[in-house]
Formats: sequence, structure tokens, C-alpha cells
Amino acid sequence: MAEIKYSETLTDNLRGKAVVLNGGAQGIGAATVEILYNKGANVFFGDWNEERGRKLEQDLKAGASENGGTVSFRRVDVRSHEMQLALFDDAMRAHGRVDVAIQCAGISEPSGWFEPEDLNLETVRNEPTPVKDNIEINLTSVLLFARMALAYLRSDDGSSSGGSKTNEDFSKSIVLVSSIAGITEAPGLFAYSSAKHGVIGAMRSLRKFGPVKYGVRANAICPWATDTQLLSGVKEMWVREKMPMNTPADVARMIVQCAADGNINGAAVFVAGGRGFDTEEGIDRTLPQWMGEENAQVFLRGQELLGLGKNWAK
Ligand SMILES: NC(=O)c1ccc[n+]([C@@H]2O[C@H](COP(=O)([O-])OP(=O)(O)OC[C@H]3O[C@@H](n4cnc5c(N)ncnc54)[C@H](O)[C@@H]3O)[C@@H](O)[C@H]2O)c1
Repeated sequence: MAEIKYSETLTDNLRGKAVVLNGGAQGIGAATVEILYNKGANVFFGDWNEERGRKLEQDLKAGASENGGTVSFRRVDVRSHEMQLALFDDAMRAHGRVDVAIQCAGISEPSGWFEPEDLNLETVRNEPTPVKDNIEINLTSVLLFARMALAYLRSDDGSSSGGSKTNEDFSKSIVLVSSIAGITEAPGLFAYSSAKHGVIGAMRSLRKFGPVKYGVRANAICPWATDTQLLSGVKEMWVREKMPMNTPADVARMIVQCAADGNINGAAVFVAGGRGFDTEEGIDRTLPQWMGEENAQVFLRGQELLGLGKNWAK
């Protein structure tokens, strides 16, 4: 398995970059905002939790970035197209470009709605609206964010200092936060896991398309257990059993590495116990094993024929 290692030196290339990030008020997103700010990036972050978002913005500003970073918060509910656009516009207005786009916002789901004791011919008549909400936050908004990112990341007017045109070791990129539940089974997380698998699908759709058509890389991050409020329901059991636990900063470093390292594209980085591994490398390498030699050969020929997939709809 290909390990992805965080490099303090390489990630210094984020200095002066304009970064847009959603879901930055707490947890993994907040840890990412903090690293980026201290690296000297100009961070524009959104979250629907205005109180925490503003507090983080103020705390960071009070500590002054060693490398000249800036930070700016805006209230964004990722379900709103306009609010997501406004965040990109903030970065564009201030720097004339966006270099990195990171989508971290996510919610878990209430447990129980698929359980046999609650599901019967009577209860099934009530539409469980939180399912749609979950998919909207964890998947639909992520896909719309990625599409927006392509439009903003491509329109670099090159006029600002520190931009990608002045820094050859840097290439623009999108980082989407999925989950271990996006690559394996996750009992009980019906909507969450479906959405997080969808995020991996979005990254896979983008990974050849983005670099060729927009000059933009795309990667996904798949954290295993990470010590944030999202894990509160199972944390006690996890700690008691001495299972591997990431800190939010562990995951944030993998996000930052994917944002900074021009050689990483199309990875789904499984983060466990503080270390990151690209699971896509293994899936691609073992294609003939799990698909069958012959199928794999024909499949790859099919992929070549389909190219970047412009002609799906007649
Ligand atoms: N903690 C884990 O163990 C774990 C594991 C796998 C994946 N993840 C993923 O990591 C990401 C970050 O989660 P976290 O663990 O830091 O949890 P968290 O709850 O601490 O952070 C999630 C952030 O997203 C924000 N958010 C949620 N819905 C939003 C909306 N509609 N609009 C704007 N902001 C919204 C929250 O306010 C919060 O600041 C999520 O996508 C989550 O699914 C976490």
C-alpha cells in the first residue's frame, strides 16, 4: 500500500495561496484551517456554525501567522449554492484567483431508522426527511462545490503575487473529505455511507478529467476514527478497546499534503492512527485479481474508448 507522508518542507509551497474551505469551524476542518494559516496561506473558510467559525477566525488572527497567512470566515450552509459561491467570490475578490478548494463539511446520521423494531408497514409510510438532508450535505453539496471549484480554479488572472504562475512546484487542486465509510461497509450508516461512497465517485470522475480539462488535481481523504464530536457515540468503546485514533491534525496534515503535492492526483487517502495510505493505488494495481484478467484487459480498452466521457448523452 502506498503511504502518503506529510512533508513540512513541500507544504511550504502553500504560502501565499488562496484557499477556499467548507466545514472549517471545528474538528478536522478547523485543524486544516490552522495549518494552512500558519503555512502562510490566505484561507477563506465557511461553516454553518457561525459562533465557532468567528471564534476560530478571531483566535487565529490574535496569534498572527508566522508566514504572513490571512484568514477570513463566512457563514455558509453548504446546501445553499449562493452561499458556497459567496465564499469563492471572497477569495477571488481579494486575490484574483483560487488555488485550492477543500470540502470538509459533513454530518453523521441518526441511528435506528432501518432497524426492524422501528420499520414496519405503518412507519414506512412516513418519509424519513433526514435521509435527503444527509445526502444533500454529504454528497450533493460536495459535487456542486467541486464543480464550482473547477470554474474558479481555472480563472487565474495571474495578477496577484504568490500565485500559482510564480511557483512552478505547485498545481491547483480540489480535496474532498470522504470517509472509511466511503470505501468499506459501514453498518448502520445507510445515508452517510452511501453519500461518502458518492464522494469517492466524484473524485474518480474528476481525476483524469480535472488535470486534462482544467489543470486541476482531485483527491479524497478517507479518515478512520478521528477524535471529533462526530465520533462521540462510539468514542468511549473505541478508546477502551485501544483502537487506532487520529487527531484532527493528523487528518488535516493529509489534506494539506494532497493540496500541496503536485504528484498526488486521484488518491483516496485512508487515514488511520495518524498515517495516510492511498487505497486507490491498490485497487487499480489489483484490477486483474478482482475483476479477472480477461475482463480487466477489455475493461481498460473500454475506458480508453470512453476517454473523458463527453458523449454519454446523445
Ligand atoms: N471524525 C471522524 O471519525 C470522521 C471519520 C470519517 C470521516 N469524517 C469526515 O470528516 C469531515 C469533518 O468531520 P469532523 O469529524 O471534523 O466533524 P465535525 O462535526 O467536528 O466537523 C464538521 C463540520 O462541518 C460543519 N457542517 C456540517 N454541516 C454543514 C452545513 N450544512 N453547512 C456548513 N457546514 C456544515 C459543522 O458545523 C462542523 O464544523 C466530515 O466530512 C466527516 O464526515 C470524520
